[in-house]
Amino acid sequence: MEITGAVLEEMRSERPYASSRPLGIRTLELDPPGAREVLVRIEAAGLCHSDLSVVDGNRPRPMPMLLGHEAAGVVTAVGDEVDPALVGRRVVTVFLPRCGQCRECQTDGRLPCRKGSASNAEGTLLSGARRLRIGGRPVNHHVGVSGFATAAVVDVRSIVPVDDDVPAAVAALLGCAVLTGGGAVMNTGVAAGDRVAVVGLGGVGMAALLVARALAGDDAQVIGIDQIRDKLDAAMSLGASEVYTPGEAADAGVKADLVIEAAGHPRAFETAFGITAAGGRLVTVGLPGPDARVSIAPLDITAGARTITGSYLGSSVPERDVPVFVRLWREGRLPVERLATHRIELSDLNGALDNLADGRAIRQVIEFRGA
Ligand SMILES: NC(=O)c1ccc[n+]([C@@H]2O[C@H](COP(=O)([O-])OP(=O)(O)OC[C@H]3O[C@@H](n4cnc5c(N)ncnc54)[C@H](O)[C@@H]3O)[C@@H](O)[C@H]2O)c1
Ligand SMILES: [Zn+2]
Ligand SMILES: [Zn+2]
Repeated sequence: MEITGAVLEEMRSERPYASSRPLGIRTLELDPPGAREVLVRIEAAGLCHSDLSVVDGNRPRPMPMLLGHEAAGVVTAVGDEVDPALVGRRVVTVFLPRCGQCRECQTDGRLPCRKGSASNAEGTLLSGARRLRIGGRPVNHHVGVSGFATAAVVDVRSIVPVDDDVPAAVAALLGCAVLTGGGAVMNTGVAAGDRVAVVGLGGVGMAALLVARALAGDDAQVIGIDQIRDKLDAAMSLGASEVYTPGEAADAGVKADLVIEAAGHPRAFETAFGITAAGGRLVTVGLPGPDARVSIAPLDITAGARTITGSYLGSSVPERDVPVFVRLWREGRLPVERLATHRIELSDLNGALDNLADGRAIRQVIEFRGA
């Protein structure tokens, strides 16, 4: 079938992207789903910094690539070996399929699946196939999703079904911002009385903040840190008890027992480490470029018995964790829709990349008309 999607031909375009237009809105051929694959009509897709990181070359991927990895839609067809009852269901896409067989898949979400990581790096689905073409030329899938399109073929292990009461835009954000930021909090665990801080208040960090508030209770100290003042104001309205710029946090001697680094910048990591209390845990979910380096004192790790953990996809097992976040959302404790600050069209994506790079939005979400 023919679909319309946002294709990146080349990384590292000049900014502003609104002028250089790295993403072209193209007509593509989409093959039918193969074994263990499904066809999804995309209803909504959010723009995440990890999309921008492909555009700016921080996370190099094979080109050309149809971007987008935080999406939701309705299954319209299934391939062999897939339960036909999935047809008609709304699903959340997940940007790291778990094969369920490799050693990493036996780690309860802690380690990314080896096979899923390899297919993501290759720009294929988990099976190794590419289902996208332009004029016969193969186009790569973005982390098994490629959600900036009217439809996608994805592995059945790249989706989690949700009930219809979950709006598409909420479902989309569950797939990356919430699973990643929220998962980092939930899967690390917060104890009563823990002080939680989040450094970097984009979609991922704000989701961490919302989940920290939901799990730690109304009285808990939940601290937001960002260098952009508007983000601090937004964090207050989303339930932070205190907000600081990195400089203010250092001056005030802020300390927290659980710190989530969700900026993807080495200076933010240093800020996050600097505010981790003795005995505390720093969970880093940001994805800086491969050459980024930080400067911290190892003595502070040892003498303060601090723990630093990396977390990919929030150390989540998506089919286990998405329903938990849906329940919190239904109970009114996780207002995911408030992260969707801007509604955009596919054709707005280049300007939206500028807004994201400049920190002018939390999540910009495409809702496909006629969906
Ligand atoms: N680990 C994963 O599985 C995973 C999944 C999704 C996104 N990510 C990564 O998480 C990070 C956040 O993603 P996002 O979409 O929320 O990004 P975003 O760009 O929307 O938000 C990042 C925020 O960090 C702030 N920031 C930047 N430098 C800072 C500093 N030195 N100190 C304090 N704040 C600073 C920015 O102002 C911005 O508000 C990115 O690196 C992204 O690639 C990781
Ligand atoms: Zn993402
Ligand atoms: Zn695996």
